[in-house]
Amino acid sequence: MNRTQGLLHGLSEHELSEIRMLIEERTGICFDASRERFLSTRVEEHLREKNFDRGTDLLRAARKSNVEYESLLERLLTQETSFFRYPSVYEAFEKRVLPELHVKKFWTSPRTLRIWSAGCSTGEEPYSIAMTISDSGSFAESWNAEILATDVGRQALKHAERGLYTGRSVDTLSEKQLATHFAPGPGGQQVKPRLRKMVTFTQMNLASAVYVGRMDAIFCMNVLIYFSEERRRALVQRFYETLEPGGYLFLGHSESISKMPVKFQAIVLNDCILYRKPTAEEALKSALVAEGRA
Ligand SMILES: C[S@@+](CC[C@H](N)C(=O)[O-])C[C@H]1O[C@@H](n2cnc3c(N)ncnc32)[C@H](O)[C@@H]1O
Repeated sequence: MNRTQGLLHGLSEHELSEIRMLIEERTGICFDASRERFLSTRVEEHLREKNFDRGTDLLRAARKSNVEYESLLERLLTQETSFFRYPSVYEAFEKRVLPELHVKKFWTSPRTLRIWSAGCSTGEEPYSIAMTISDSGSFAESWNAEILATDVGRQALKHAERGLYTGRSVDTLSEKQLATHFAPGPGGQQVKPRLRKMVTFTQMNLASAVYVGRMDAIFCMNVLIYFSEERRRALVQRFYETLEPGGYLFLGHSESISKMPVKFQAIVLNDCILYRKPTAEEALKSALVAEGRA
């Protein structure tokens, strides 16, 4: 059976391909052969639920109306996430990155720490960052820790802003974390206001270069895997420019930038790799070494 026969009546191979191109063009998300089935199943579901007779009707609506486009996009996002998804990343953040930033920025005024969770989904990642900062003794009251949490999906952001988590999603948290940072809410556990105030959620498409100011650390985990190589490179370069010298980039475990031409220092700690932007002095030193002048 060929793929077209597997599709719903009303959705042709050509229309599916147009939908794929529309999403890729606007968000950078690629549907390669390994995600072909996911794409067709979700588009078929969307056609059915929105009562579109044909793929062309859906395409026309999505091109014409932002509401229709976003509703289609929501259906095609993969938003799997969890609290402290990679424990070793948060351990490295707590034990290596925060103490280093603490020393580096101790004499700055105001004492501000800026972190970006890019592709934050339903909020578990930025709240895990906030818990780590809040539990680390060094960043006590006199520091102003700001976490910018962005995602292209509005539904996920709504969930994140509410900060209400149910069932299995909070199972991975310790009793101490739950007692310190959550309060019982309707049908689950809700992040306490003190932690919620540390995080600002904003809708942002990583395919458009929006200025976010300088960051001390960027978490962009399990997002680049959905992008083409070209978009990945552009985004990693943008992260490099956005980071303060001495700042850190955290990626998902299966995302490597070792072959990219950016000048991050890769630091291997247990089973995770951190990418550090060198300070101006370090960058100069390595340029001199490369030229054989040091
Ligand atoms: C698999 S989730 C990862 C969530 C979290 N970072 C983690 O590792 O647990 C990928 C997230 O990236 C978001 N995303 C995909 N393309 C995006 C884009 N162009 N701009 C912003 N967010 C995007 C999706 O909506 C989704 O919430």
